[in-house]
Amino acid sequence: MAKEWSSLQAILGKLADLGADRDVVLFALGGGVIGDLTGFAAAIYMRGVCFVQVPTTLLAQVDSSVGGKTGINLPQGKNLVGAFHQPQAVWADLDVLGTLPAREYSAGLAEVIKYGPVADPAFFAWLERNMDALMARDHTALMTAVRRACEIKAAVVAADEREGGVRAILNFGHTFGHALEAGLGYGALLHGEAVALGMLMATELSVRALGLDSQLLQRLKSLLERAQLPVRAPYLDPERFLQLMRGDKKAAAGSIRYVLIPVLGQACLQVAPDALALEAIASHSASVTK
Ligand SMILES: NC(=O)c1ccc[n+]([C@@H]2O[C@H](COP(=O)([O-])OP(=O)(O)OC[C@H]3O[C@@H](n4cnc5c(N)ncnc54)[C@H](O)[C@@H]3O)[C@@H](O)[C@H]2O)c1
Ligand SMILES: [Zn+2]
Repeated sequence: MAKEWSSLQAILGKLADLGADRDVVLFALGGGVIGDLTGFAAAIYMRGVCFVQVPTTLLAQVDSSVGGKTGINLPQGKNLVGAFHQPQAVWADLDVLGTLPAREYSAGLAEVIKYGPVADPAFFAWLERNMDALMARDHTALMTAVRRACEIKAAVVAADEREGGVRAILNFGHTFGHALEAGLGYGALLHGEAVALGMLMATELSVRALGLDSQLLQRLKSLLERAQLPVRAPYLDPERFLQLMRGDKKAAAGSIRYVLIPVLGQACLQVAPDALALEAIASHSASVTK
């Protein structure tokens, strides 16, 4: 199943064939793809029915299953069609993560790490102390990480369900990350890998534009390395990089608004000079195409 019209149509058609009425409850058992697709089907079938998220990837457990964003992709771009529709419940069973491929697991960790710099310095320090246990998929460490990530996301979403303001801080690393994903061709990097690189670039930009203590950059880089995430992006033409970020749907009226961190644990949305953004990109990218 992919996040596309044909999958959506198949689910809606099946529901109608089964004679499902407004009391039906859909269960989204799978990763973020299944969660977004099922959630969107639930949002529009008979103008909205209930659904439950049962996320089976780390990324889905700490990010996509919480917050009520649902949707599908169009050939023109990712997540262009969707709805806000909250699940009745999210049921995250840590045992299912045992079979997750290492690369997918690390990609999920990038979204876990994301919550530290933007919202919780203590959680960031906890991740530094517990990354080895997390890499070993230790149950106790995972429980703390998944719970804290969901708490932070739920609190931010509760304050701003429709992303009018503060919810945007959850996109830390995503402006750079989305540009990398699109520019390198979808599939070259997993989303979490692109976010890891994007977080380094956004942190670098925070150092250069807002005077953030550059020590945080080193701490973040070493945490990402321990999570087996990439810390040097493949080369992408700088002008194209900027152009892709301007096209990101989070860019307001042509100017790029970055999620930056003036101090560890706080985030703000801010424009920055292109020259500084290019320096931030270059600092964490390969210098030429391989
Ligand atoms: N709604 C939101 O707020 C939100 C937030 C972030 C991401 N997303 C969306 O989430 C999607 C990515 O989700 P994802 O990273 O979970 O990818 P995914 O759903 O594609 O799952 C990754 C892979 O892991 C496999 N898999 C799932 N669970 C497994 C398990 N327990 N063991 C072994 N293999 C397993 C899947 O079959 C798939 O091949 C994207 O479409 C993205 O747009 C949505
Ligand atoms: Zn993400």
